[in-house]
Amino acid sequence: MPSLDELRAQITQCRLCDLSKARTQAVPGEGNPRAQVMLIGEGPGFYEDQRGRPFVGPAGHFLDELLGLAGFSRGDVFITNVVKCRPPGNRDPEPEELAACDGHLRAQIEVIQPNVIVTLGRFSLAKFVPGVRSMKEVHGRAIPYQGRLVVAMYHPAAALHQGGLRRVIEEDFRMLPMIVARKAPAGAVAEPAPAASPAAEQISLFAL
Ligand code: URA
Repeated sequence: MPSLDELRAQITQCRLCDLSKARTQAVPGEGNPRAQVMLIGEGPGFYEDQRGRPFVGPAGHFLDELLGLAGFSRGDVFITNVVKCRPPGNRDPEPEELAACDGHLRAQIEVIQPNVIVTLGRFSLAKFVPGVRSMKEVHGRAIPYQGRLVVAMYHPAAALHQGGLRRVIEEDFRMLPMIVARKAPAGAVAEPAPAASPAAEQISLFAL
């Protein structure tokens, strides 16, 4: 199995799709190589393309706040995207671009072995749970996936732009420690903090 550094090198040199032609640089992802929690966004935007790091623009600053609500910092988790190069003008990634990048993402998951995968937005969720029509139906929920849990979250950029979603995504991130604790090997994670709100009781595990 390749190391995370080898995967990083493969991604930075990747020419599997046309996104590589327009990029300033690829954005492989970063964080704790043994993270229990992996967050997967959509694709690099302007700032990420410039700096080669995931979520460093306005959505990234909000993501840092959200991680804080869950008691995490960037160093605790691993953050990446379904496509590693910026779609021009921040358009949605095309199916062939998603397919070309799929091997990179699967390899990262294989190496890191996270217990919990947090999907940020619909393109990321669709990698693991196809056919979800609305984020409204699934956000905040933990969905069993090949021995892991996939937690569906709104994309932080969507939550930033639609005022009403901000509280929703904040509440979903506050629940994340409970989900992580549920999936952690015995003794690996401290007891979760007491529920921050009545919504804590509503979190449910379900299979699609
Ligand atoms: N949006 C994403 O989906 N990923 C990033 O890295 C930045 C913004």
